[in-house]
Amino acid sequence: MDTLKVLTRIVLPTFGKGVIIRRPAVEGLAERFNLDLTAVRLMQQLRQKHGPAPLLLKIPFRPQLLLLDPRDVELVLSQSPEPFSPATKEKRAALNHLEPGNVLISNPPRRAQTRPYHEAALATSERHHPLACRFQTVIDEEIERITSTHERQELNWPLFATAWFKIVRRLVLGDSAREDKGLTDLLNHLRGRSNWAFFLRKDAKLLKEFRRIVQKYVDRSEAGSLVGFGSKDHLVDLPSQIAQWLFAFDPAGMATFRTLALLATYPEHLAAAQAEASSREIERPLTRACFLEALRLWPTTPAILRETTTEIAAAKVEAGTGLIIFTPFFHRDDANLKCAHRMEPSIWIDGNDALPLNGFIPFSAGPAICPAHNLVPLVATMAIGAVLARASIKLTSPRMDASALPGTLNHFTLKFDAQRSPSPAARTPKALQRPY
Ligand code: HEM
Repeated sequence: MDTLKVLTRIVLPTFGKGVIIRRPAVEGLAERFNLDLTAVRLMQQLRQKHGPAPLLLKIPFRPQLLLLDPRDVELVLSQSPEPFSPATKEKRAALNHLEPGNVLISNPPRRAQTRPYHEAALATSERHHPLACRFQTVIDEEIERITSTHERQELNWPLFATAWFKIVRRLVLGDSAREDKGLTDLLNHLRGRSNWAFFLRKDAKLLKEFRRIVQKYVDRSEAGSLVGFGSKDHLVDLPSQIAQWLFAFDPAGMATFRTLALLATYPEHLAAAQAEASSREIERPLTRACFLEALRLWPTTPAILRETTTEIAAAKVEAGTGLIIFTPFFHRDDANLKCAHRMEPSIWIDGNDALPLNGFIPFSAGPAICPAHNLVPLVATMAIGAVLARASIKLTSPRMDASALPGTLNHFTLKFDAQRSPSPAARTPKALQRPY
């Protein structure tokens, strides 16, 4: 019965919302029926009933261990790719539609080849990517375009997304990709197929076309773009790696937009973020912490999956068993967290972006941690700052209670009243004032 409950109340809604690309209608339903917090409640009941040890779900042909204790989360993530491999059957089936050679679904020897490509191009260990100066220019230009048309206007997802995906294409592929909306549409189509994983045949023709276009930008290798900054190691199957960058900037945009909603809900943090936006400093710790809070409260990767590569005799776990880390449970566990349902930027203010022992893992943790875990908060804080420097914002939909934030926040339907600031401060942060 418990396995059935997990399948219907956790697995089904998570996959229904779309793991690779969100389905707006299901996201709307999840918000309306509070499905994410219902899933957290079920996890809490399971922990109470069975204890905090990993719970084996006896799903026919695909047993899965459900992790219930942050200490196990830390242990499993720190031991990737062996014995806990990120390349699970489910992920391979999904990502095969879009990026068959991606690091995420690679075996250990292949991972050892592909992971360094991402770490170098995305400057994983650097707080500020070497191209930060150029990022700021691009972000300022695109946000200026959407905020300068009217003195007062509605800022909604379709408007924000127009700017966001131009930013993404320019940062990843270069300025010549700015208007290539066709590529984003093609990517989204393939992501839509990825959502169906095993249940849909691969569209080899469309995938070939997508890879051809990405390769064209790789060959162009524009200065100031991430593809230009990365190495040209064709052994790593560049289109497969770059597909992940293009796709993963979509959740980064959702979380950026949700951060604006959070800030608009907490006036004291909004004022502090506005001050950071006008301070001309590249390091904006409060804005960054609020962005990480948006990812904690509404994780864009709700399920981090692993698969055992060997038998773990001590735990009676067979090789090939799946492991599920359902992040909303750890991020919103109000049995253990006072701040479960409100924003608490102080969690992140000392500069961390992964606290696995506390169960806070928006970018995962360990050797397979998202290699953009520094890049994404940088780009997001720049975009948030660019909006706040140009407009004062008020959240008009939905209404949010600062002491009891909703389990799901549908980014597609967020709306702000944006009033152009009297003297729009199109400021370039101090540390960035050097010619690109
Ligand atoms: C809100 C934005 C993002 C979040 C929350 C996020 C989170 C994650 C998570 C949880 C993983 C899985 C790690 C694991 O299995 O342990 C991951 C993997 C990855 N992410 Fe991100 N990511 C984001 C954006 C990006 C962006 C923009 C890029 C590239 C520009 C990127 C590149 C990657 C890559 C290449 C991997 C595979 C890493 C590996 O398997 O070694 N991510 N990300």
